[in-house]
Amino acid sequence: MAEPAAASETASTLVTGGAGRATILVVEDDAAMRAFLREVLEEEGYTVEAAAGGRTGVERVRQGGVDLVISDVKMPDLDGLDMLREIKAVTPSPHVITITAFGSIDTAIRAVKLGAFDYITKPFDVDQLNLSVQKALAERALRSEVARLRDEVQKSYRLGNLIGRSAAMQEIFALIRRLSGSAASVLVTGASGTGKELVAKAIHFNSRRRDRPFVALNCAAIPDTLLESELFGYKRGAFTDARSDRAGIFLEADGGTIFLDEIAELSPALQAKLLRVLQEGEIRPLGAARSEKVDVRVVAATNKDLESRLADGTFREDLYYRLNVIHIHLPALRDRAEDILPLAEHFLARSTAKAAKEVRGFHETTRKALLVYGWPGNVRELENVVERAVALAEETLVQPGDLPPAVRERRMTAEDDLSAAVARGLTLEELEREYIKRVLAAESGNKTRAAQRLGLDRKTLYRKLEEYAGAGGSPPDGSAEGAR
Ligand SMILES: Nc1ncnc2c1ncn2[C@@H]1O[C@H](COP(=O)(O)OP(=O)(O)OP(=O)(O)O)[C@@H](O)[C@H]1O
Ligand SMILES: [Mg+2]
Repeated sequence: MAEPAAASETASTLVTGGAGRATILVVEDDAAMRAFLREVLEEEGYTVEAAAGGRTGVERVRQGGVDLVISDVKMPDLDGLDMLREIKAVTPSPHVITITAFGSIDTAIRAVKLGAFDYITKPFDVDQLNLSVQKALAERALRSEVARLRDEVQKSYRLGNLIGRSAAMQEIFALIRRLSGSAASVLVTGASGTGKELVAKAIHFNSRRRDRPFVALNCAAIPDTLLESELFGYKRGAFTDARSDRAGIFLEADGGTIFLDEIAELSPALQAKLLRVLQEGEIRPLGAARSEKVDVRVVAATNKDLESRLADGTFREDLYYRLNVIHIHLPALRDRAEDILPLAEHFLARSTAKAAKEVRGFHETTRKALLVYGWPGNVRELENVVERAVALAEETLVQPGDLPPAVRERRMTAEDDLSAAVARGLTLEELEREYIKRVLAAESGNKTRAAQRLGLDRKTLYRKLEEYAGAGGSPPDGSAEGAR
């Protein structure tokens, strides 16, 4: 509504898809011709700027905002064809319509070869000019629309640094976006290398806390005795070596997010302390007389099966429920095969930029090999394989020979899996059970979609899951259910 109605109803707004009046730059050394072109084009509702020579014309284009250039080929300072060459080197470059003298068709052809959109020959009539201008602007509008749509598609496959096209990842993206205003604790589970830490960062950087610290702590990497002071800090004199006050990561991350990695390794004593902090929203540094309020969002991660640790009593149930307000489960990479190529392309682009190497993509056979390999090390393994391949690559496409033997030689995972099942002596019932578990994980625990994919009705799937649970084994992973 910023623009007055009269201005927005011109022909130019129609052809530029409503983005406003198109700006046309007229480059012409002949003053009378310049004035004529300006008048004709302004009458059509375009914004017209004029330059009397090729040099100033190129300068004006470099400043941006020009949609179309109409230029004479014959000019004293910079020849129209040289000017065209320079304009086409600007990105994004405007379309150019070249005006040539009667009878110089070879100049016109050269102009088109150099990238001119069209040419008109003097003397021309106004309709001919207008038609050419409309075509150029319409084509340009269409082209930027295509670019915009391509951008949009690519954007939807990523969230920050996270890439994912599979339904499971798309759902995780949507959930992370929905969480942006919340401070609820999140538990991220998944095998090693599936992207748990990256998800934790995406949660932080997509939340209102993004301008505050993100602090990560690996609970398995630090001895228990130090972990407490790492978490909650201490006061000077709290113990022999405490020569000054120290803020723990809870204070450091105040207003932000703490990422507690390998949470399953937390000792019972620290589990109790962490639980208290989460319940009360305050911490007490070692040796401090009073507690302090902290505002921290906790994201915890583990590649262990926490539920079995609840069962054997090594992980506190009350802490588990505090941490697991929202559950995000990252399926193994082989269970979201749609992500393999987008991830590979992403890592390729990153590695080639780093290695300053011209590797543009993957050979068809390489793609197939990437798709059928089982990826026990998940996304981290794929990342390493692509980095290595880029380092080795000698051609513009990554060849199968650039892959490690294990990846290159692995064919037909499905058959291999079945041979493995035969080798393990699985009964049909056991195989069915494993298959259901895999499909359910691939659908992030969504039973409706898992049932569809399995060709079962929901009730049958529920009955089977109940049977499995009743049979004493752990039920197939119903993770991410807490997320709904
Ligand atoms: N969806 C993804 N998009 C882009 N990169 C990813 C994705 N998932 C994982 N990665 C990359 O793969 C590597 C492993 O990811 P990350 O460290 O988050 O895994 P993790 O689940 O924490 O593994 P671990 O349990 O071994 O600590 C990282 O380099 C990360 O950047
Ligand atoms: Mg990790």
